[in-house]
Amino acid sequence: MENRQITYSEKEIDVNDAQDVMMSFGRASISGDFIGRFYEIFLESEPSIKPIFKNTDFSKQKGLLRQGISLIILYAKGSVVGTSGLTRIRDTHRKTKMNIPPHLYKYWKASLVQTATEFDKNMTPKLITQWNKVIDKGVKFISEGYNL
Ligand code: HEM
Repeated sequence: MENRQITYSEKEIDVNDAQDVMMSFGRASISGDFIGRFYEIFLESEPSIKPIFKNTDFSKQKGLLRQGISLIILYAKGSVVGTSGLTRIRDTHRKTKMNIPPHLYKYWKASLVQTATEFDKNMTPKLITQWNKVIDKGVKFISEGYNL
């Protein structure tokens, strides 16, 4: 019984975290070129990242990433849409397809949190922790698919 209660309250925390992060992403997105700034930070965050995107059309990629971030937030909420969207992204990023090494996901997360901190005028230490939690959950799911 006690276990069930713990599981339930952890799930509740996720839903609230995801809700707060979704609002934060909304505020951050209307205050500037969120995705453009994200790529500026991400591509410079580790020397091996820029060459991976050498053939990328960023006008297309920006929309896709915006969608990807929304799916990560939905996934943290426990949504079926989030899970099926991340399952598809996990498939394209795995070793035998785009071959995105799992150790690069920490730069992705740090760049996203950095961008959110620059753009969300209501950012707080609590919200930064929530962003980290929400992204960790999705990144864990995607990077664990590397060898599938
Ligand atoms: C959890 C984090 C990530 C999410 C949600 C994400 C999301 C996406 C999405 C939605 C696409 C569009 C194609 C598709 O749907 O598969 C994409 C493409 C791509 N992603 Fe990611 N990604 C993540 C992490 C990374 C990381 C860490 C790298 C490492 C460098 C990376 C490299 C790429 C590349 C190279 C493409 C293809 C770009 C092109 O079309 O030229 N992604 N990603």
